[in-house]
Amino acid sequence: GSMPITIPTGPPLTPAEEAGQGVFINEGAESTVTITVVGASGDLAKKKIFPALFALYYEGCLPKHFTIYGYARSKMTDAELRNIISGKLTCRIDKSENCGDKTEEFLQRCFYHSGQYKSEDDFRELDKKLKEHETGRVANRLFYLSIPPNVFVDVARCASCSSSSANGWTRVIVEKPFGRDSESSAELTKGLKQYLSEEQIYRIDHYLGKELVENLSVLRFSNLVFEPLWSRQYIRNVQLIFSEDFGTEGRGGYFDNYGIIRDIMQNHLLQILALFAMETPVSLDGEDIRNEKVKVLRSMMPLQLENIVIGQYKSHVKGGVTYPGYTDDKTVPKNSLTPTFAAAALFIDNSRWDGVPFLMKAGKALHNRRTEIRVQFRHVPGNLYKKKFGTDLDRATNELVIRVQPDEAIYLKINNKIPGLGMRLDRSNLNLHYAARYSGEIPDAYERLLLDAIEGERRLFIRSDELDAAWSLFTPMLKELESKKVAPELYPYGSRGPVGAHYLAAKYNVRWG
Ligand code: NDP
Ligand code: BG6
Repeated sequence: GSMPITIPTGPPLTPAEEAGQGVFINEGAESTVTITVVGASGDLAKKKIFPALFALYYEGCLPKHFTIYGYARSKMTDAELRNIISGKLTCRIDKSENCGDKTEEFLQRCFYHSGQYKSEDDFRELDKKLKEHETGRVANRLFYLSIPPNVFVDVARCASCSSSSANGWTRVIVEKPFGRDSESSAELTKGLKQYLSEEQIYRIDHYLGKELVENLSVLRFSNLVFEPLWSRQYIRNVQLIFSEDFGTEGRGGYFDNYGIIRDIMQNHLLQILALFAMETPVSLDGEDIRNEKVKVLRSMMPLQLENIVIGQYKSHVKGGVTYPGYTDDKTVPKNSLTPTFAAAALFIDNSRWDGVPFLMKAGKALHNRRTEIRVQFRHVPGNLYKKKFGTDLDRATNELVIRVQPDEAIYLKINNKIPGLGMRLDRSNLNLHYAARYSGEIPDAYERLLLDAIEGERRLFIRSDELDAAWSLFTPMLKELESKKVAPELYPYGSRGPVGAHYLAAKYNVRWG
């Protein structure tokens, strides 16, 4: 199919890269891409990566010559891998359509190679197999590291030493977590950079691939009516809210070593904040955007412990059903202080945002599932209609809500007159509700990101200096929380979270939306 051609940016390309880059978009071109999913037996591969690759294939977005390899230690045949994959593929494009033929075609291009993560020999065997599919073509290779972080560097070493492309590009997508503080993150970066250049590393934050997060810049920079209001002059506070209505079920082992601040705030919410608050980039070029994100991250004030509230969910019985507490998970220590909820007030020390609280709230096992950006505007100075609002003037200010998920929407709360002869005021929404405005399903974030990695577009991936800035902001506070053994406030599974979050907001005259 026809695709918009993305011009890769960054440092000059090597001749080999030049030969491979972008050419695959041209149907007749003799280049090929192999995508190796390392950790193919795992949860993320099954749940997200293979289905996203299939959706890209279905929509005609994958290059003509492509091959997919699963790599992991588990012993499996190609047929067994195909069987696992096919159980997870859905036809998001058109539910009524039969994906049958496409599914079969796709599966025929999926293969499996079993090997160790530390063995260059095993990766050499993989290399041989990849070559069989690449005959005579410029061979581009993408590796997706869907494995635990303790083997990231081993795989980077083996892949770069034994199975990087001889005449095309080699790129590596790395999943989070990128360390657990400044030091471990720097160590990981150092480890990866022994074998890969920064240009080859694609650090994924899948929130950047979400439709409404991508739309944030369009909203800001291509509408006259928002950007002039985007500052301390008009904005009273900004809220970044992530909530899930389920606990850490099944991932307690991973989670206990990280906690919600590292799992959600330091990456997903902070990335949204950076896009929200950055200055206008010079262009849409990936480097220009990332430069602005780093700048705003580096302008943030150190996080104070008094501006943080942490919580942990406890078991709760509702309608005869017992919902387990966090520490009821067998893989979690009984005395764990790991937060499953956190709220924080952050500040940006620059002329645009001086004094504006950016409030973050993230939690598991809460009463609903949603991710939202809420922008609360200031009062109308000398509002003529003050009396008509009664005492609730506080609630009558404008608010812009960007609902990232579920049920994507962007709406602006405004005040209007209730029709009739009297003069009574009402609050209404000017609403861009995606389901009503657009038919067709919104692609999964992983589709966007995989496509970008194949095209060499790094705009939505995290650059190493961005990562450093994000960790610098959170590391001292995390260390303080841990050294002081701050106990999380317990909240019942399925509740609205600890009341501490409300006091924190109230301190800044804010009500959570
Ligand atoms: P898994 O725990 O399922 O691990 C993936 C594969 O890695 C496993 O199938 C296993 O394959 C191998 N593996 C597991 N444990 C070890 C170990 N201790 N040493 C070496 N290999 C091991 O992880 P996920 O698929 O859930 O996640 C993959 C990556 O993505 C992780 O970095 C995770 O943090 C990240 N991530 C996951 C999300 C999710 O929803 N699952 C969300 C966001 C990020 P085998 O034994 O066959 O070699
Ligand atoms: C992951 C976190 O990065 O994001 C998980 O590790 C969380 O804890 C997940 O559940 C949420 O992603 P999404 O796309 O389902 O909102």
